[in-house]
Amino acid sequence: MRHRTPAWEGDPATWGTRLADRLRREDPVRAAQLGAVATPPEAAVRLVEAAWRAQPRPTAILDPACGGGALLVPAARRLWSEAGARTPADRTRLLRAHLRGLDVDPDAVRTCRAALAHAAGCTPGDLAEVVVECDALGAPLPPADLVLANPPWVDATTVPPARRRDLAARSRWARGAWDLWVPLVERCVEAAGPHGVLALLLPEAAAAAPYARVARAGLHGTRTAVHLEALGALREDVAVRGLLVVSVPGPAPTGALPIDGAPWPLPSSAPAPAALTGRPLGKLATLVGAATVAEAYAWRDALHTGTPDATHLPVVNTGTVDPWTAHWGQRPLRYLGRSIPRPVIPAAALGDRRLAQARQPKLVLAGLSRRLEVFADLDGGWVGAKSTVLVLPHDVRELAWLAAWLDGAPASAWYAHHYGALALRGGYLRVAPRLLAALPVPPAPPGVDAIVRARCADPEDPAPADALARLVTEAARRT
Ligand SMILES: C[S@@+](CC[C@H](N)C(=O)[O-])C[C@H]1O[C@@H](n2cnc3c(N)ncnc32)[C@H](O)[C@@H]1O
Repeated sequence: MRHRTPAWEGDPATWGTRLADRLRREDPVRAAQLGAVATPPEAAVRLVEAAWRAQPRPTAILDPACGGGALLVPAARRLWSEAGARTPADRTRLLRAHLRGLDVDPDAVRTCRAALAHAAGCTPGDLAEVVVECDALGAPLPPADLVLANPPWVDATTVPPARRRDLAARSRWARGAWDLWVPLVERCVEAAGPHGVLALLLPEAAAAAPYARVARAGLHGTRTAVHLEALGALREDVAVRGLLVVSVPGPAPTGALPIDGAPWPLPSSAPAPAALTGRPLGKLATLVGAATVAEAYAWRDALHTGTPDATHLPVVNTGTVDPWTAHWGQRPLRYLGRSIPRPVIPAAALGDRRLAQARQPKLVLAGLSRRLEVFADLDGGWVGAKSTVLVLPHDVRELAWLAAWLDGAPASAWYAHHYGALALRGGYLRVAPRLLAALPVPPAPPGVDAIVRARCADPEDPAPADALARLVTEAARRT
């Protein structure tokens, strides 16, 4: 077995993908034995977001098959941002207190430690006890209130017979032609206990394969699956399709999803991004950059910290918007060398056209992000600063659906499919008006306005988030 010191560069959230790619290239047999299929960075962020909606304040986060840290790096970032941890010392302390990663592959352990250390600003040696080499199927896992896992993708025929017999003897779930993820997820459920949340990336076969019946009943039956999302093909060269599952404690109610392990009807498999149809966004809304370079400089001196009122408007930029959320007053606005804690701008400094745009109900999109990040300014009043994009609907009644659609997985997949080649290092997409204009938007489903209002009112509430995900997936399937 090769042991290589990782010498990675760029965004550590992508190191897991690069580790798995390298393993598949250099040692495909070992890659198949380890089931190394990394979570794509965009899916990892979505899974972590869904996990936090279900478990907003996790204290013990475990990834029992952590690979190069594709899930743990975004989880760490989420942890730091919630705690306001900015220094390497604070970040390292939080990792030690709240995060555990296990992997049977020493290369994965080294890469994961290095990725977390790079993100935290400490050394891999500081994280020796955070990420450890371990066969997660060999011993009980440490208890956790949030288990994040993309368990090994190893099919029945690849597991040696003796190991298969041993694992089946210790498992209630491994029945029939089970794949290795089955006993590993069973271990994850034990680790989560009666109060923990599971956030998993599984092969899509988990939704319907007969061998996964007991596993399905364990994730939705004795527990409740609150989020199911079919991802489609994870990579062009991997003939596997992914399924995100978030399962929370408590028995499932009877409803659309069977609780006895019968196949789960998935909302849909994500359609091929190129196949989406609908009216182009550019016909439904005016799309503009929020400020020209000249405006950006002119506004710099007018910006100051203050309280929004009739003549002072609050300002956001790419660094202070996340999906559905403006972190105004929580994160300072960093703007052309200035840092402004509660940024407002006098209406008089904006000029008539920009003031009219600011007061109009609209969407503000981050200009550089791994997926489309939408802040819905449903009632108007926010100023999008440099490097954001404004979506100004021609008919304000369509605003809520535009927000839901642009936030959804199909729109981001479409955008990445068409313009991914323009992405910066780390997979950051450049979001630009003329590129967005071609994005197909299917007709709005009924009832979306109230759900979008609820989504904006409480971005942490899983109910509107899941309801919107369903509406968007259904709309994509109909196109
Ligand atoms: C599908 S990859 C996922 C890696 C990472 N969590 C991610 O999301 O990209 C599965 C990982 O499980 C690891 N693995 C395989 N068998 C394992 C076992 N018995 N115990 C712990 N890790 C294992 C592999 O080395 C690989 O890194």
